[in-house]
Parts: sequence; C-alpha cells; structure tokens
Amino acid sequence: MKKTKPWSGRFSKETDKMAEELNASISFDRRLFGQDILGSIAHARVLHKAGILKKGEAIKIIKGLRSVEKDIASKRFRFTPGMEDIHMAIEKRLMEKIGPVGGKLHTGRSRNDQAALDERLYLKQEIREILALIERLKRTLFLLSKKNLDAVMPGYTHLQRAQPVLFSHYLLAYCQMLKRDSGRLDDCFKRTDSMPLGSGALAGSPYNLDRFYGAKLLGFSSVTENSLDAVSDRDFILEFLSCASILMMHLSRLSEELILWSTQEFGFIELSDAFSTGSSIMPQKKNPDILELTRGKTGRVYGNLLSLLTVMKALPLSYNKDMQEDKEPLFDTVDTLKAVLSVYPPMLKTMKVNKKRMREAAEQGFLTATDCADYLVKKGLPFREAHGIVGKAVAYCLKEGKGLRELELKEWRMFSRLFKSDIKRAVSVDNSVNARKIYGGTSAEAVKRQLKKVEQELKKG
Ligand code: ARG
Repeated sequence: MKKTKPWSGRFSKETDKMAEELNASISFDRRLFGQDILGSIAHARVLHKAGILKKGEAIKIIKGLRSVEKDIASKRFRFTPGMEDIHMAIEKRLMEKIGPVGGKLHTGRSRNDQAALDERLYLKQEIREILALIERLKRTLFLLSKKNLDAVMPGYTHLQRAQPVLFSHYLLAYCQMLKRDSGRLDDCFKRTDSMPLGSGALAGSPYNLDRFYGAKLLGFSSVTENSLDAVSDRDFILEFLSCASILMMHLSRLSEELILWSTQEFGFIELSDAFSTGSSIMPQKKNPDILELTRGKTGRVYGNLLSLLTVMKALPLSYNKDMQEDKEPLFDTVDTLKAVLSVYPPMLKTMKVNKKRMREAAEQGFLTATDCADYLVKKGLPFREAHGIVGKAVAYCLKEGKGLRELELKEWRMFSRLFKSDIKRAVSVDNSVNARKIYGGTSAEAVKRQLKKVEQELKKG
C-alpha cells in the first residue's frame, strides 16, 4: 500500500475513493490559503522562539511557505480531493519544495487549532470589510435623506395609511437599524479576535510555545483560555451568522418597501434601468429583481445560521468532523452580504423619488385624523371623546366622498362646537408633520437633529 497521507502510518488500506471525496474539504476551504500560510509563518516563528526550529530551518520554512502562497495565488497549483484539506495541501506542497525540514512545521500543532485559527483570521478581515460596506450604505441613506427633506409621504401601520411622515424620517429609520447591525458585528469581532494556536488537538501543546507572541504576530488582541473550548468553539461564526441574519432581515424590509413603492399603485420611487430587469414575454415590464433577490437571499442567510446551529447542537467536546460543515454556510453568508451591500448604495443613489405622488398619497385617506383629535384635546376634551367625534366626522366624509381638508367650518361644527376656523390649518399634512417636534419625531426640526447625529456617527466611523 502506498502511504499517501501524512496520517497513514497506522493504516493498511488506502482510503476508498468515495469516502475520500466526502471527507475532503479542499474544494471549499482552499479559500483560506492566505490565512493558513499566515498562521504557519507565525507558528514557525513561535517554534523558533521555543528553540524547536533552528534559525536556518525557520527561514527555510517561511520562504517555502511564501513560495507556496505564490503558487496557489497564481493558480499554478492544482488541488485534488486526496489532499483532504487546505492545511494538508499546503504542508504537502511545502515538503515538495523544501524537503523533510518542512515536516517540522506541524510540531506542537493540530489541524484542529489550525482550522479554528484560519477561520478567525478570515472572519476578522471579512467583518472589517462588511462594516465598511454597511457604513457606505448608511452614508447613502443619510445623503438621500438630507437631499429630500421636503418630501412628505404617508407613514403606515398594518400597511394602511396612518400618519404623514417625512420621507427622510423613513430613510433614517434604516440608518438606526444599520447602526445596530454595526454594533453587533463590532461585538462579534471582539470575540473572534482571540488566538487558538497552542491548543493542539484538544489538550494543549506539550511544547513551550509562546502563545502571546504568536497572537502578537498575527494581530490578535487575546489568546483563547481553554484548549478544549478553543478547538470546539464555533460561537464566533454563529454570532456572525446571526448578525448577518438580522442585517439581511433589515435589508429585506427595505427591499420590500422599495418593491411596493415602485409599483404603479404606489409610484413613490422609480429604480434606474441599470438596477432593473425586463421580462422575456411582457415588453412593458420593468422588474425590481435586485430588490426581490435581496429579499429572497435573506432565506439562505437564515438557512446558514440554522444549518450551523444544528451542526453544533449536542456535539460532545472537543473537535468533531461535523464541524467541517461550518465553512460553506460561513463563506456563503459572507459572499451574499457583500454582494447585496455593494449593489444597494448605487441603486439608491440612482433611484428617482416622486415627491408629488408621495404628497398626494399623504393628503388622501384621513392621515391627519389624529391631529383633529389632538386639536379638540387642546380645547379641553378628553382624548377618548375627541377620538369618537373625529371618527364620526371621518364616517361623514366617507359618505360624502370628501377629504378632511374639504370640510367647511359649518360641517365641522356639526360634530363639535369646539371647532373654529383654525381647524383648516390643523388638518393640513405639513401641520401634522411639524407638530411632531418631539425628540425622535418626524418634524423637519427633529429630523434635522437626527441627521446631525447620524452625520457625527459617520464622521467617527
Ligand atoms: N478540515 C477540517 C475542518 O475543516 C480540519 C481537520 C480536522 N482534524 C482532523 N483530524 N480531522 O474542520
């Protein structure tokens, strides 16, 4: 029997081909080659510091690793399932290049702590990039909001017209969501930023490795505290997947609103042709596919979270091969988030905002009925009574086919003697918006305050 695997010493049969295919993660974990090389270079330095590698050996190994990296980056290197995973593939190539001294690199290390290290290095970088993309989207929403401060639209509850709000207020609501998303990812980053190398297979390495030195070389701010936990912990990935799920949930809501608003029925916005698609049969169609796909891709991101939660459920300590199933959900989530977050800002920047349609919609449908009740409250009526009176006025309007603004003073006075000529102003959409000066409210004044805060956050970020 040919001993083709670094672990085949105790084996007397070669691996079955189908078992080898199933066992291999190289087809997807090859993505971690950069992190794996980085980790190995640091490990070689740590081994040298511990006196395990002579200076010349460490240099040879590090040079070799750099050259393997070049081979992989320039696609001069062919991965095969027999290599099993990225860790073994790199080690094999290193030994081909520098000979048996390459075999010293794996001293005091296991693929268990190595896989955890690579994933942490990878995720730290990806979180940084995703945070920058979120920031860019937030900035786009901020600028759109600043530019359209004069647009009034209906605010909805139950998807029924409820009260008029500023379009800017609506957009800034999403800035708040994104702010929380960034906060969650920042927090997830802190727990990802811990160095597992030195944990070995599960019990810790028996060599005198300076883990803190390794952490410093690799830019980690702490080292993991328990070797069993370090090789079996995937919380950092689960946290990331749950942050991603919440973020996608937010984007799915925004997408849904933009889909609705771009219908002929709403007509509040129009997407640029560059971010729309056509129909192969209906020549008149312009479809919001990008928005629909964002809404749809939320499903796979939730699926990825559920998938890994299920993989990890009831797994005994420490490392189990089940955990190799953590990578595809992670990579898929990173790719999905980056794709969606990248397309959103230019799509928002180029969409047309139809302020006229928004205002028309805000002026129909009794959106200022609450303001009428508040008008009566200011004249001394308890709110419940006022609510009843205005309800009757609305019923009257519906019967007469009129809006609140079209009622004459004498018609108002059929419902209460407290109505005076100033009721006309009280039921105007602008009055309703501007009455809400309260901190966090929709008046132009309050929205400008919000804008200022978001601007400060953007400057800091
Ligand atoms: N490829 C594995 C993973 O991605 C790492 C190898 C784990 N160690 C082992 N002895 N099977 O999780």
